[in-house]
Amino acid sequence: MKTTHIFAAASLSLALLSSVAIAEITFHNAITGEQLDLSVAKKGGDTEAFKQFKETGKNPYNGNPEAVKKGHDLFMTACSGCHGHEAEGKLGPGLADDYWTYPANATDKGLFELLFGGANGMMGPQYVNLNTDEMLLIMAWIRDIYKGDPKKAKWLQQ
Ligand code: HEC
Repeated sequence: MKTTHIFAAASLSLALLSSVAIAEITFHNAITGEQLDLSVAKKGGDTEAFKQFKETGKNPYNGNPEAVKKGHDLFMTACSGCHGHEAEGKLGPGLADDYWTYPANATDKGLFELLFGGANGMMGPQYVNLNTDEMLLIMAWIRDIYKGDPKKAKWLQQ
């Protein structure tokens, strides 16, 4: 009798453990709310950092100087034409202050969703040009140059 109980408890905790291990956040289009299909992403982005991000919603590259530098280079190629060299805003809005058209961008999950799936008008889905790891690198740079109110930096509080 006792042994059965122990077995039951052991297999239950095993089941719980494995469901935690595979739990992944689902990501949604910033405009339509439709679930994003990450399988359409440009190849090469399923790195350790991105795997971690899918489980935690936190960008592991935040505050990492090497990643921030790479993110800056990528931003210059992929984004600065519309958002300005310092992300101060041009055709697209500024990304370094604490005003967001889409408030979810104050979280890393929200910012990733907007980059991957795009928003309105000229802000097309970025999965066409960038892989998901590159998106995390660019996001780390955007967080690095933040000049807004620290209290509104939700990604630090996640
Ligand atoms: C062809 C021009 C263009 C390019 C290239 C572009 N954007 Fe945008 N972006 C825009 C426009 C226009 C908007 C406003 C769209 C809206 O309000 O729906 C925007 C909106 C955004 C927003 C939402 C800002 C807010 O206030 O909520 C973010 C974040 C963003 N872009 C990041 C990026 C990043 C990072 C890149 C490079 C990977 C990029 N964009 C490339 C034009 C562009």
